[in-house]
Amino acid sequence: MGVLSDQCAAMLESSSWIRRMFETGMELKKQHGADKVSDFSLGNPDLPPPPEVAGGLRELEANLNRPFSFGYMPNCGFDWALRRLAAYLSEEQGVKLEEGDLMLGCGAAGCMNAFLKAVLNPGDEILCIAPYFVEYGAYVSNHGGVLRPVPAKQADFSPDLPALEKAFGPKTRGIIINSPNNPTGQIYSKDDLAALAELLRRKSREYKRPIFLLSDEPYRFLAYDGAEVPAVLPLYEYAVVLGSFSKSLSLPGERIGYLALAPHMPDKALLRSGAITANRTLGFVNPPLVGQYLLKHALGKHVDLNVYAARREVMTQTLTAAGYEFIKPRGAFYFFPKAPGGNDTEFVRRLAEELVLAVPGSGFGMPGFFRLAFCVSEAEISRALDGLKRARAHFA
Ligand SMILES: Cc1ncc(COP(=O)(O)O)c(C=O)c1O
Repeated sequence: MGVLSDQCAAMLESSSWIRRMFETGMELKKQHGADKVSDFSLGNPDLPPPPEVAGGLRELEANLNRPFSFGYMPNCGFDWALRRLAAYLSEEQGVKLEEGDLMLGCGAAGCMNAFLKAVLNPGDEILCIAPYFVEYGAYVSNHGGVLRPVPAKQADFSPDLPALEKAFGPKTRGIIINSPNNPTGQIYSKDDLAALAELLRRKSREYKRPIFLLSDEPYRFLAYDGAEVPAVLPLYEYAVVLGSFSKSLSLPGERIGYLALAPHMPDKALLRSGAITANRTLGFVNPPLVGQYLLKHALGKHVDLNVYAARREVMTQTLTAAGYEFIKPRGAFYFFPKAPGGNDTEFVRRLAEELVLAVPGSGFGMPGFFRLAFCVSEAEISRALDGLKRARAHFA
């Protein structure tokens, strides 16, 4: 019997690839110098937050001597912060949202955990579309649920609705979607989302329980060439948006995020109370205080999208010149090319020998591919060219 719970031991094992790449990267940078390594392993945005964020810090500082300036607050966040967020999201989602439709929390991740805790019974199933953000498995099992990944269409990583339809059963409680997608960069079309909403409605009736659509949207702001990211709240009465400012304002360490319920959701008030209570009892207690002040000043702003757009072009040129097969991402900051030779873990290991760090598709529930995160400088992308060429040639 080890010191870890079976669940925690399994989580350590399943996330070991990303951890291993991180450790390999540290080691390689120490050995060869950071400027020799191209590290595409982590989705940690390197851009500075927009300057408006500083206004929040100044306001907070000016109020420091007031009683409770850093006190506990309502478990869903300050009233004034929810009001501002409601106005902002009403415009973004194209439906009228009120404070009572929202909860602020600790990132999209914390809010998803709170919602799952509120709705899952042991053995309940949550579907998702593979490849997927690997943490979903832990978020669902944290609350007694089981994640059931269903592969996306191979041609373009869009949802495979007939395959999804077959995955529903009496235990299905919801589906997680993520558009723009990590790791593929795909954006789901309005037609696909409307068809998914219809399917969820039909299955909710068939199994006589609401089936939730959990839309994980930290990359909503990051769509290229004018691509539209359709809103889900107007499409389905049991839709829930999990969003954050981790990427749009480059604030991932501050952990400010939110949950938004479709305004016409039946039992909305009860579900919101459940999520807020879960937010408290999970130990988050309330959303970050500093983050709410930052939002007060910077809501509606975002980091310079042109920087990511330019890097996407450099990565496209680099991968093309090195002879890789890939779909150009329509959003987010990842590429998900085919692994030459087909064995993604072997390929990524070989790529690391060339001082280029990536994550195998197996880490996202889709072997045969690998993920490159381009939240690094254009120079770091360009200098990977020779290493990418040599690694590919090795498996030719
Ligand atoms: C798909 C996806 N969902 C959720 C998260 C977590 O975001 P947050 O920082 O808002 O918790 C990430 C972070 O990288 C992500 O890539």
